[in-house]
Amino acid sequence: MNRRDFLKATSLAAMAPSFGLSAQTLSTSSQFRLEAAVIEQALTPYPEYKASSLWTYNGGLPGPELRVRQGELMQAELVNRLPEPTTIHWHGIRLSNGMDGVSMLTQPPVEPGARFQYVFSPPDAGTYWYHSHAKTWQQMARGLYGPLIVEGPDEPVVDHDLVCMIDDWRLNAEGQLDEASFGRLHDWAHGGRLGNWLTVNGESNPQRPVKPGSRVRLRLINAANARIFRLQLAAPAVQYALDGYRTPLTSVQDIELAPAQRVDLIIDLTAEPFPLTEVSTGEPYPACSLVPDAALGTATAAKVTLTDPTPESLPNLDTAKRLPLHMQGGAMGNLTEASLDGVMRPIRELAREYQKVWAFNGVVGNMKNRLADLRLGDTAIIEIWNDTRWPHAMHLHGFHFWVRDPETGTVSASRRDTHLMHAGERAELIFVADNPGLWLLHCHMLEHHAAGMGTVIQVS
Ligand code: C2O
Ligand code: CU
Repeated sequence: MNRRDFLKATSLAAMAPSFGLSAQTLSTSSQFRLEAAVIEQALTPYPEYKASSLWTYNGGLPGPELRVRQGELMQAELVNRLPEPTTIHWHGIRLSNGMDGVSMLTQPPVEPGARFQYVFSPPDAGTYWYHSHAKTWQQMARGLYGPLIVEGPDEPVVDHDLVCMIDDWRLNAEGQLDEASFGRLHDWAHGGRLGNWLTVNGESNPQRPVKPGSRVRLRLINAANARIFRLQLAAPAVQYALDGYRTPLTSVQDIELAPAQRVDLIIDLTAEPFPLTEVSTGEPYPACSLVPDAALGTATAAKVTLTDPTPESLPNLDTAKRLPLHMQGGAMGNLTEASLDGVMRPIRELAREYQKVWAFNGVVGNMKNRLADLRLGDTAIIEIWNDTRWPHAMHLHGFHFWVRDPETGTVSASRRDTHLMHAGERAELIFVADNPGLWLLHCHMLEHHAAGMGTVIQVS
C-alpha cells in the first residue's frame, strides 16, 4: 500500500457516513458494480402511504456515491436486472465516446439480464453524477441516478464533504409514484414532469448531524426530470464550483439549480442548524438541514481563506465554426410544422401521433440528426436562441463549454456542461471539439428531450 492509498483509506475511515447515502463504495482499485433493479420503498415518512416501485442502483436511492481520484482508471459494471433495456451515462465526465452510455447512439442498450463494463479515467475533479440514458424521462423519474465525485490533488480541507441529490417526485393520492401520468403530453409540451414531493438523497427533509462550528463542503445535484430548484440557504455560503468546475469565490444565499446542474458550496457553520429551503413553487418547502451535534466531536478544519482558481481564457475564435440552433415549439410556441425523419409534418400531427412538440432548426430531434460535423480540434460556437415560452437546461455531452452572452460579450466565469436558457434568451456555447465521436446536445428537461429537443454533434 503506497502513501496515496493509505491516505485514501484513512480519509475514508474518517469520513462520516453521508447524508443517508448507502455506504461509500470506493475501493482501492476503483471497480464498481452497479446493479439496476426494482425495489419497493416509501417516498414519504407517513405510514398510511404505501411503498413505491422504484428503479435504483444497488438497492439504494440514490445509487451509491462513487468516489474516485482525478485521472484514476475507473471500471463500473452495469448489471441490468430491470424489466427493460438500460444504460448508464456519466454526466459531465469527458470520456471516450463509447463509454458515454447513450442508448442507440454510443452503444446498444443493455438488455435485461445482460451486463456492460464502463471503463474510463475522469480527467476533471469535481461533482458529477451518473444516470440512466435509455428512456431517460421514465427511468430517471423512477430513481436511476447516483453521485460521482472526482477528487483532485488539492481539495479544500473540510470537516464534512456531503452530497445532496435533490429530486422532486410526482406522487398520487396514495403517496405512491404516479406511474399513470408517465408520458402525459401536457407535461411534455409544458414544463416537463414536475413533482409534488421533494427528497434529498431519497429522504424527506433529512437532518444531517455535523460537528458544531464545522466547515462543510456541500455538493448539490439537481436530479429532477424538469424542475429548476430555487434553494435558499440559512446564511450566505461560498460558491466554490459549478458543474464540477472551480468558480471565482462568491457569496451566495439564493441558488438557482437547473436539472442536471451542480453547485459546490463551502459553509462555515456556527452552533445553529443550517436549513436549506426550496422555494420554486412560491411556497417554502424544507429540503434538508445540517444540524450541529456535539456528540460528533469538535471541528478541526481550519477556516482558511480559500483562493480563486486561475482564470481560464477563451480559445481563439478566429476560425471558430458557428452552429446556429433555433429552439422552437412547446405550448404557446410558434412552431407550426417540423421535419420528423425527413418528412415535414404539421405540429398537430406531430403532437397527436408522435408525441413530438419541440424542434431544433425545424427538425424534431432523434439520434440520426446531426447539428454539425466537426473536425477534431475545431473550435465551435453553438449560437442558441431559445425562441420558446419555456426555460431549457441545455446539456452537451463530452465537452465543457464557456457561455457567452452575444449581446454584452460577457463570458461565464467557469465552464459548464449544462446551461439554463430562459425563455427568449440567446447564448453562445463555446467549446473545443477535442474528442471524437457522436455527442448528444439536448435539453435536460427530460420530457423535452423525448419530445424532440435533441441533436447530435459529430466530431471526426
Ligand atoms: Cu445527464 Cu444526456 O444527460
Ligand atoms: Cu427543455
